[in-house]
Amino acid sequence: MTLTQGLRRDFIDVFNQEGETRIFFAPGRVNLIGEHTDYNGGHVFPCALNFGTYGVARKREDRKVRLYSKNFKDLGIIEFTLDQLKYKEDHGWGNFPKGVLKVFKDNGFAIDKGFEILYFGNIPNGAGLSSSASLELTTSVALRGLFELEVDMISMVKMSQKAENDFVGVSCGIMDQFAVGMGKRGKAILLDCNTLKYKYSTLELGDASIVISNTNKSRELADSKYNERRGQCERALLQLQEKLRVKSLGELTGEKFEEHKALITNDIDRKRAKHAVYENQRTIEAVIALEKGDLEKFGQLMKASHISLRDDYEVTGKELDTLVKLAWEQEGTIGSRMTGAGFGGCTVSIVRNDMIDRFIKNVGNKYVEKIGYKADFYVASIGDGARELK
Ligand code: GLA
Repeated sequence: MTLTQGLRRDFIDVFNQEGETRIFFAPGRVNLIGEHTDYNGGHVFPCALNFGTYGVARKREDRKVRLYSKNFKDLGIIEFTLDQLKYKEDHGWGNFPKGVLKVFKDNGFAIDKGFEILYFGNIPNGAGLSSSASLELTTSVALRGLFELEVDMISMVKMSQKAENDFVGVSCGIMDQFAVGMGKRGKAILLDCNTLKYKYSTLELGDASIVISNTNKSRELADSKYNERRGQCERALLQLQEKLRVKSLGELTGEKFEEHKALITNDIDRKRAKHAVYENQRTIEAVIALEKGDLEKFGQLMKASHISLRDDYEVTGKELDTLVKLAWEQEGTIGSRMTGAGFGGCTVSIVRNDMIDRFIKNVGNKYVEKIGYKADFYVASIGDGARELK
C-alpha cells in the first residue's frame, strides 16, 4: 500500500465516511541563504523539499468543518462550523487551517459548505523546515480544489502568511509560504521580498548535494526572540530614515550603510541592521556565483552568512554553532550554515557526494560527544510546491 492509499484508508477510519476523497500536498522548505532578510525587505533563496504535509479532503453537505492530524492524534477530531472561525487555544494545530479558511472567507471566496480533512506531515517536528507554512498551503490548495476557486498561487501564499500573522499571531515574513507554494523541482527561488519579484535558479551542484542536519534542539522561546529581532531592525530603520529615503533595510548597499550607520544610536540595533543589509547583499552575490558555476564562492558566502547570524544577529546558539563548525571541518564540505529562524532547528550544508557518508558519521559522532544527544541528517531532494496529487 502506498502512503497516499494508506492515508485514504485512514480518512475512512477516522471520519467514518466512504466515498470520493482528494489528496493535496505542500512541501517543507530549506533556505540556502538570505536569513532574516524577508521582513527587512531583502532577498531570500529558498527551495521546496520533497517531504511535507498531505491532506485527504472531502466536501460536506452541511456547514461543519472537521479536521484531524495523524501527527497530533491526542487532539482527536477538531470540529467547528463555518460560522465559528475564532482562534481557540485548545484547537492547537487546528488554528492554522482554521485561520486560512477565515482569511479565504474574509477575501470573499465562496466557501459555503463544510469539509473534512485528514492531515499527515513527514517534516521532522520543530526542525525549522516550515511545517506550519506547509500545513497552511496544503489547506489553501485543498480549499481551492474542493470549492473550485479561481485563485492563483501567489494570492494563496499571501493569504497563508496573513493567517499566520493575524490569526495565529506569529509575525513571520513571506519566505516560508512563498517557497512552499511556489517551489519547483530542482530549482531554488531568488525572491525579492520588497517587490515579490522572483526568479528560479537551477541548482547545479555538480557532484555535490544538499544535506540538512537537525540539531534536535527544540526552538522554545523562538517566537518571542524572533519578534524582538524584528523590533530591533524596525527601530534601526526609523533612525536611518532621519537622513535616508528608504523604505526598508533591503534597499541599502553596504557602503550606504557604513556611511550612515552612526544614525543608529543603540549598539545592538546597529548590529542587527548590519546583518540585514549585508546578508541581503550576500544573497544576491551568492546567486550570481551559483549561476556562474562558482560553488566555492557560494560556500564561502554561506559561511559568512552563518558568522553574521552568530555574531551580529545572535540567533544561533551552541547546538547550531557546533553542527556548523563540525561541518566546516569536514573534507568535502562546500558550505554550511544555519537555516530558518534559528535558536535551534536545522543547518544546511552542500557536501560532495562521495563524502556524504563520512560527513554524516563524523559530524554525527562529534555532535553527540559535544552536545550529549544526537543530530539527524537528511540528503535533500528539491521538489515542487503545493498542489493536488492525482
Ligand atoms: C522564519 C520565518 C521566515 C523568515 C525566517 C528567517 O522561518 O517564518 O519568514 O523570517 O524565519 O529567515
